[in-house]
Amino acid sequence: MDTTRRDLFRLGALAAATAAMPGLAAASPASRPAPGATPVERASRSLDILILGGTGFTGPFQVRYALARGHRVTLFNRGKRPSPEWPGEVEQLHGDRETGDLSALRGRRWDVCIDNPTSLPSWVRDAGKVLRGNIGHYLFISTISVYADGSRAGIDEDAPLAPYRGRDAMAETRQTLIADMENLYGPLKALSEVEARRQFGDRTTIVRPGYIVGPRDETDRFTYWPHRVAQGGEILVPGDGQDPIQVIDGRDLGEWMIRLAEQGTTGTFNAVGPAYPLTMDAMLHGCQAVTSTPISLTHVDPDFLEAMEVELPIWVPRDRGPYAGYGQVSNARAVAAGLTFRPLATTVADLLEWFRSLPAERQARLRAGIDRQREAELLRAWRAAG
Ligand SMILES: NC(=O)c1ccc[n+]([C@@H]2O[C@H](COP(=O)([O-])OP(=O)(O)OC[C@H]3O[C@@H](n4cnc5c(N)ncnc54)[C@H](OP(=O)(O)O)[C@@H]3O)[C@@H](O)[C@H]2O)c1
Repeated sequence: MDTTRRDLFRLGALAAATAAMPGLAAASPASRPAPGATPVERASRSLDILILGGTGFTGPFQVRYALARGHRVTLFNRGKRPSPEWPGEVEQLHGDRETGDLSALRGRRWDVCIDNPTSLPSWVRDAGKVLRGNIGHYLFISTISVYADGSRAGIDEDAPLAPYRGRDAMAETRQTLIADMENLYGPLKALSEVEARRQFGDRTTIVRPGYIVGPRDETDRFTYWPHRVAQGGEILVPGDGQDPIQVIDGRDLGEWMIRLAEQGTTGTFNAVGPAYPLTMDAMLHGCQAVTSTPISLTHVDPDFLEAMEVELPIWVPRDRGPYAGYGQVSNARAVAAGLTFRPLATTVADLLEWFRSLPAERQARLRAGIDRQREAELLRAWRAAG
């Protein structure tokens, strides 16, 4: 399978993956506001917000921002991860969406429900059974992997969605999904969106992020690049450096979700950044502006990398393959609905600070990209081939 695809299909496995590492994300200092950060203004109206999940990657950003805006927050999850230290009162409810145990939600009412960890239509249906009529607004985190054709530039929210080709979408489980992410992740997210509208009607908001990055990102896909730049020296860069990159800082995403809730904004939105076209080279120079390490970039032909079976994360070649458009997805609708982006330098600096706070053995083994030895071998082979 093509490297970029494998990367994207892993998006949905994130919650499962981080569940296997309890404590890492929860303990991260970058989930706390930076000293001197701009204070968040309180919202004009305080909401009761139910967050399904809330203790993984992006959930804690929603929680902190919601508390800072003066909202009341309830979390629902299995309680498998140590609860982060919240800067205010947070109600914690337990249950399990896999077994359908949602009893803790029964008979309760909230203004808003944000559904973070769901990739299965049956999870949405079951949530609807308990919550329909008891919540005012349902926000569902989907993905740009829902699109049927990822090859063209400028995919907007009206583009056709990937069809499900299995036998019974409602019978799919977390296990069947993880076993066949490539074929199931996008279509099942798309059907989860359909189910969300069936359950919650026009009080539904669908948010489709691309790569979510920054502090607390346990996949290391984007992290590979700032980390590599921080090491300095000659860096192997796939392609000619001009391929477009799109990422969204988990904090920009989480905070915008709360603002969408406050404004009662419904509809469907791609959530990708930044606001301007960012190329691979510009992203790397942006990292270097933070690290100040001396670097040189060696651009390597994608054909060579494919022949060498090299996987490099985040990078999507703009002119080939079924995912050529994944660095050029339209975010116009989301920006018009108030999505904002912190500077790349802030994401990179905070990400590196967070990553360096992890245990040494965790830092030593990145979960994406190639190690320095492999990179040096590839650079030698590339020169020899040229
Ligand atoms: N990472 C990316 O680049 C990317 C890109 C596009 C879309 N997405 C989507 O974005 C979302 C990201 O979620 P997140 O990890 O940031 O959310 P999160 O709310 O921060 O974390 C996942 C939460 O789900 C809970 N959970 C997991 N399994 C559960 C179960 N069976 N029953 C009840 N609760 C359960 C976890 O707690 P417990 O383990 O304690 O239950 C945890 O609180 C996902 O839907 C993903 O598909 C991600």
